[in-house]
Amino acid sequence: MSDKLIELIHVYKDFIVRKGVFGKEHRPGIWDVNMNIRKNEIVGMVGGSGGGKTVIAWMIVGLLKPTKGSIIYTPMGLDVTKADKKQLKQYRADVQLVFQDPYSSLDPAHTVKWHIEDR
Ligand SMILES: Nc1ncnc2c1ncn2[C@@H]1O[C@H](COP(=O)(O)OP(=O)(O)O)[C@@H](O)[C@H]1O
Ligand SMILES: [Mg+2]
Repeated sequence: MSDKLIELIHVYKDFIVRKGVFGKEHRPGIWDVNMNIRKNEIVGMVGGSGGGKTVIAWMIVGLLKPTKGSIIYTPMGLDVTKADKKQLKQYRADVQLVFQDPYSSLDPAHTVKWHIEDR
C-alpha cells in the first residue's frame, strides 16, 4: 500500500560544535530517525527541549541537510536531501513550515488552512 507522503529513512544530523587546533569536533544532533507521514494523517512529534524536533522539521522542508539518510517525498518521487534548487521550489509549493513563534507566524483572525493555502 503506497499511502506514504513523506518518509525519513535512517536520518542523522551531526553538528560541528568547535573548530580548534586539533580539528573539528562533531556532536550528534539526531541519529537514526525513521518516520512515515501518510496521506490525510496528522502527526505530532513530542519530546523534551533539545530532543531534535526543530532539526527534523528543518530537514523535512530542506532548510538543513542531513549528515546521512534519505527524506523521500513520495508524490514527486524526490529525495529531498538530494534535490536541486528547481526541485526544492516545486517541493515547497506542497510542503511548508509554520515557524515556532505563532504570534509572528500566524494571524489569529484566520485559520491555519487560510495561511498555507495557495491564494
Ligand atoms: N546549529 C546548531 N549547532 C549545534 N547544535 C545544534 C544546532 N541546532 C541544533 N543543535 C542541537 O541539536 C539537538 C536538537 O535540537 P532541536 O531540534 O532544536 O531540539 P527541539 O526542537 O526538540 O527542542 C540539540 O542537542 C541542539 O543543541
Ligand atoms: Mg524546537
